[in-house]
Amino acid sequence: MNIRPRRNRKSEAIRSLIQETRVTTSDFIFPLFLLEGVNDSIAVDSMPGIHRLGLEKMLKEIETCLSLGIKAFDIFPVVPEHYKDSAATRCYDDGFFYQQALRRIKKEFPEACIMTDVALDPYSSDGHDGLVKDGRILNDETLEVLGKQALSQAACGIDIIGPSDMMDGRVGYIREVLDSNGFTEVSIMSYTAKYASAFYGPFRDALDSAPKSGDKKTYQMNPANQQEALIEADLDVEEGADFLMVKPALAYLDVIKLLKDSYPQPIAAYNVSGEYSMLKAASAKGWLDYDRVMQETLMSIKRAGADVILTYHAKEFALLNR
Ligand code: PBG
Repeated sequence: MNIRPRRNRKSEAIRSLIQETRVTTSDFIFPLFLLEGVNDSIAVDSMPGIHRLGLEKMLKEIETCLSLGIKAFDIFPVVPEHYKDSAATRCYDDGFFYQQALRRIKKEFPEACIMTDVALDPYSSDGHDGLVKDGRILNDETLEVLGKQALSQAACGIDIIGPSDMMDGRVGYIREVLDSNGFTEVSIMSYTAKYASAFYGPFRDALDSAPKSGDKKTYQMNPANQQEALIEADLDVEEGADFLMVKPALAYLDVIKLLKDSYPQPIAAYNVSGEYSMLKAASAKGWLDYDRVMQETLMSIKRAGADVILTYHAKEFALLNR
């Protein structure tokens, strides 16, 4: 035998020399859930270890995370039911608790990269990402609201807008609204290939944002489709997206790889709530070693081609690897 691959595995030093992929804390965006009550902290039952936080608690959490090397955060509001309406009007209310909190967070931590989600579901009494009429999700009418939402968030000083709504034409529309209002420096991370997935369940528990009727299959992608992601990605690139995202991550590693091989833009992957909860549940039962499967999972997403990983594991990974 001339070739013995085991020679390159014989010691930790050699294994480390030839290691192809490395996950680091600087790869992460940490999603956080914001409560209106500034000192509140409420556990998300279906996401052990994750809490919805009021502003004061969130400021402390961001400070801790920054000291651990996590530099980017995606902040989602938990909108109390009485603020929701069919036009999702609070999503562009500059005085709403979410926008107030975003301004404060950017003021306290200007060095942190803050991302926000653009989609109507947390603010909509229908629980859909777009406006609903007679059971149908309106596309072009929704764009107008998404534009106002993005503008309201940009005005808070946030760094990256993340359109997660999957309406056609939204990246270009939002880019145009931002640019014509002077926000040329605000980035867009498009949820390019966002699938109609059952893995979002725990997130919808956290925000109480599940659709009141129907499902999201007329706008989110069919989990069976890979080539269709190229149509979405072509459009997003043309419309000015700075990052292309695949979501979920683990069940869609092939799509991450496809986009990485097809586009020079940075590729992000959203390691979603259900993917997080699976590992937590199995390890709570003693069936899996959480620290190891968590790191192996993140490694697989990076190896598939993700440059950026949105993950609820971010803080635990950072604590383990500091
Ligand atoms: C809102 C949005 C969702 C997620 C991120 N933004 C839920 C959905 O589309 O239903 C899911 C994130 C997760 O599961 O961690 N459009």
